[in-house]
Amino acid sequence: MSDRSAFDTNLVTVTRFMLEEGRKAKGTGELNQLLSALYTAIKAISSAVRKAGIANLYGLSGSTVNVTGDEVKKLDVLANDVVMNMLKSSFSTCVLVSEEEKDAIIVDPDQQGKYIVCFDPLDGSSNIDCLVSIGTIFSIYRKTTDGPPSEKDALQPGHNIVAAGYALYGSATMLVLSSGNGVNCFMLDPAIGEFVLVNRNVTMKNKGNIYSINEGYAKYFDTPVAQYITKKKYPEDGSSPYGARYIGSMVADVHRTLMYGGIFLYPANLKSPKGKLRLLYECNPMAYIIEQAGGMATTGKQAVLDIKPESIHQRAPIVMGSKDDVQEYLDIVNQYNCK
Ligand code: F6P
Repeated sequence: MSDRSAFDTNLVTVTRFMLEEGRKAKGTGELNQLLSALYTAIKAISSAVRKAGIANLYGLSGSTVNVTGDEVKKLDVLANDVVMNMLKSSFSTCVLVSEEEKDAIIVDPDQQGKYIVCFDPLDGSSNIDCLVSIGTIFSIYRKTTDGPPSEKDALQPGHNIVAAGYALYGSATMLVLSSGNGVNCFMLDPAIGEFVLVNRNVTMKNKGNIYSINEGYAKYFDTPVAQYITKKKYPEDGSSPYGARYIGSMVADVHRTLMYGGIFLYPANLKSPKGKLRLLYECNPMAYIIEQAGGMATTGKQAVLDIKPESIHQRAPIVMGSKDDVQEYLDIVNQYNCK
């Protein structure tokens, strides 16, 4: 008897999946034009990441630090160039904000389309040279103003996101995507060069058993964060303590939180009073994915997706994950606010 499951002759690729979504939404196809440019960029980055060690792509780029103060690696530069080039030539974008560029890039008028993309081409790059998972994060907005596009068009709250997601270059390359109808995961099949649907409509557990924070900064934690973490380590209700996991690559830490549940925190602390992670291309896309999967994302004071950005590289504190876990943190914050 032949094994019919060994080779799927009707595979759902991300392109097929998103074409169906576009048809249902009666779209013009411009978003899919953009996304297909992004898939190409992600595949190129994945390939570069996989062969970085033998293609002399490890190490620093020669330029010193980027606008947010991180050391620029060769792979950062390559990833930024490839995403920029693919998006500009997709005829679907007008403003591009990248972690690697000080100012927003305005696409040439003859290549312009209606979308704005904010992205971190290679997040977690301090992990590149030791082969820990890294990723690409992106969020897509529609231009909402008349007149020529400008940097201001990118200063939209996260709840305006049209589509967002990330690619994780881990033990496999995974694309996690949402365009407002839940979250779907696509794994890159290197044999055919396509992202194939492997996890449809991912929903998060309401409560997990893992906390994820850089505990090396405990000295700088505020009281609610310190108290919350203590509660996870020494539960008073007889339950088992939470496990601790912190990779230091946001994409990997958030992907684990999405898959297994629990909580990820990069809160404000004494040393980083506004947090560390960047609102436009780290916090917002991740908050959008987590909320689309039924989780929650907060700064401690407001929903991350409600922040009205003031500048393209601004930072925001973020606590996100399973609803009940985030709510438990917020309950502690609120107790202190009432005192
Ligand atoms: O913003 C870059 C980044 O590497 C994130 O991917 C990660 O979550 C964070 O910084 C780690 O920061 P820290 O080293 O302060 O814990």
